[in-house]
Amino acid sequence: MNNVITLTGVTRVLQSEEIPVTLVSDASLTVKAGEFLGIRGTSGSGKSSLLYLMGLLDQPTSGRINIAGIDVSTATEKVRQETRLEKIGFVFQFHFLLQEFSALDNVMLPMRRLGKLSDADMRTRAEKLLVSLGLEGKTRKKPGQMSGGERQRVAIARALANAPMVILADEPTGNLDSKNTAAVIDIFRKLAHETGVAVVAVTHDTEFATKTDRNIVMKDGKIVEEQ
Ligand SMILES: Nc1ncnc2c1ncn2[C@@H]1O[C@H](COP(=O)(O)OP(=O)(O)O)[C@@H](O)[C@H]1O
Ligand SMILES: [Mg+2]
Repeated sequence: MNNVITLTGVTRVLQSEEIPVTLVSDASLTVKAGEFLGIRGTSGSGKSSLLYLMGLLDQPTSGRINIAGIDVSTATEKVRQETRLEKIGFVFQFHFLLQEFSALDNVMLPMRRLGKLSDADMRTRAEKLLVSLGLEGKTRKKPGQMSGGERQRVAIARALANAPMVILADEPTGNLDSKNTAAVIDIFRKLAHETGVAVVAVTHDTEFATKTDRNIVMKDGKIVEEQ
């Protein structure tokens, strides 16, 4: 299988603090296409920090990050931005959908930013993504008119907008009840196994961790266990 993300000895230290704070310490990890990977660990163990490094939202202090064959640790900000927009989809605990926009327009946003499709093609693709996530009939609804589970599925559709190689999800089921949690886990599993996108999900949920292909555990900024 192809490697989508490779971290080699990645460390992130916040120097701005009075005493430097190590968020991630010497993390090495490979994520493959079609893999559903879970990241577990107690609060404050560095899970989000690791995910933000993989998602190019933060820069490492040392170590290398390779995404889809591109060494992004030495790349320019422009290349990092392009890689983020084209290769990576994000899902957070809070959906961060624009309240004034319909589901369809929210999903079209990353496509507009990338600017590769015509308006009609963007619309068709967004519609298809929403239908594939069980949201037929909801595409014109605004976030306020949808349930929490539906909103999170719109957020997943938005993450898929530009056909990324990897989805990075930070406690994506943290606000959902057990039924919607199970639905989101099922969606991620299917996406990974049937479409080949890699899914990396930070989770507290022990049930979640039984459905992934592999889990890593973080402690004090280090990857301490790989199952
Ligand atoms: N901007 C920051 N300034 C200072 N400390 C931070 C900052 N961001 C995170 N931390 C600290 O780094 C550690 C790891 O945080 P985080 O990656 O958010 O952990 P997790 O997602 O596992 O709960 C925590 O101890 C947190 O308090
Ligand atoms: Mg976190």
